[in-house]
Amino acid sequence: MFEKLQSKWKVGGTQVLIILCTFAIGGSLTGYLGRKLLVLAGIEKGWYFLPIYIIVVTIIWPMMVLLVSIPFGQFRFFSRYLGRMANKLGISGTKSSQTPDSTAPSQVSLAIFASGAGSNAAQIIEHFRNHPHIQVGCIVCNKEGAGVIQIAHNQGIKLIMIDKERFFRGDGHVHELKGLGIDFIVLAGFLWKIPASLIEAFPNRMVNIHPALLPKYGGKGMYGLHVHQAVVANQERETGITIHQVDAQYDHGKHIFQARCPVEPTDTPEMVAQKVHQLEHKYFPAIIEKTILELQNQG
Ligand code: GAR
Repeated sequence: MFEKLQSKWKVGGTQVLIILCTFAIGGSLTGYLGRKLLVLAGIEKGWYFLPIYIIVVTIIWPMMVLLVSIPFGQFRFFSRYLGRMANKLGISGTKSSQTPDSTAPSQVSLAIFASGAGSNAAQIIEHFRNHPHIQVGCIVCNKEGAGVIQIAHNQGIKLIMIDKERFFRGDGHVHELKGLGIDFIVLAGFLWKIPASLIEAFPNRMVNIHPALLPKYGGKGMYGLHVHQAVVANQERETGITIHQVDAQYDHGKHIFQARCPVEPTDTPEMVAQKVHQLEHKYFPAIIEKTILELQNQG
């Protein structure tokens, strides 16, 4: 039930709890206030009490949950939730209540796959925190003790720890991801090869970031500091990042975006890593957003 709500509302586990609390407190306050109002109006007795009470609580309930949602930091969720309810009931004053807006983007839920510290994951979470159409639905990790695990816990985002057997020889966790309502996968420092089952389940809906200007310095074994060591050893004058679609080969899919930075003769691999991380943090979240919105526009 808990996972169903996460998938339906496209929010993390902690947020489901906060939303349920908001419903409970908003509902109780509505009942209390409704009764008080009827007592004040002197209609607490008589056969008409119940129908009037129902009408009054129906009117004040949306206001109460919206009010309670403010201190809980859930105003955006509830205003959208109530808007959708109003549209369904045909009582919204907005245009969409009369004519469903076919151009409005639907909700997209992201899974971030990461194996390391998770600095890119953190930037992506921050970027989409209050996004109207895109949410981070879960973080997927293959490495015990990775920094990204703590980030998932701190942010109240569902964490999936990969089962190696299931990943490579089973369904690739596809059913679990689909069950959570995941639409799009972002590889943000994920160091395992993606199995065919997962690629086929998310066609054109998976992007990777690589810390070099592909096709140079890509392929098996080329990750993290290894890439920057090779760049420095070859006395490259520039390096950068590549964001690309994911296919069955390492670092191979169609390029979506590249950005460059200079490599000075005195730079160490660690210094290059820092410059490259800065580029990643600056561009990756925005390119993910642009890619998803373009996909949606293509239908
Ligand atoms: C990033 O620099 C990313 O480009 C790289 O791992 C780092 C993860 O950092 N990915 C690869 O090397 C993939 N071949 P983070 O955990 O701080 O986001």
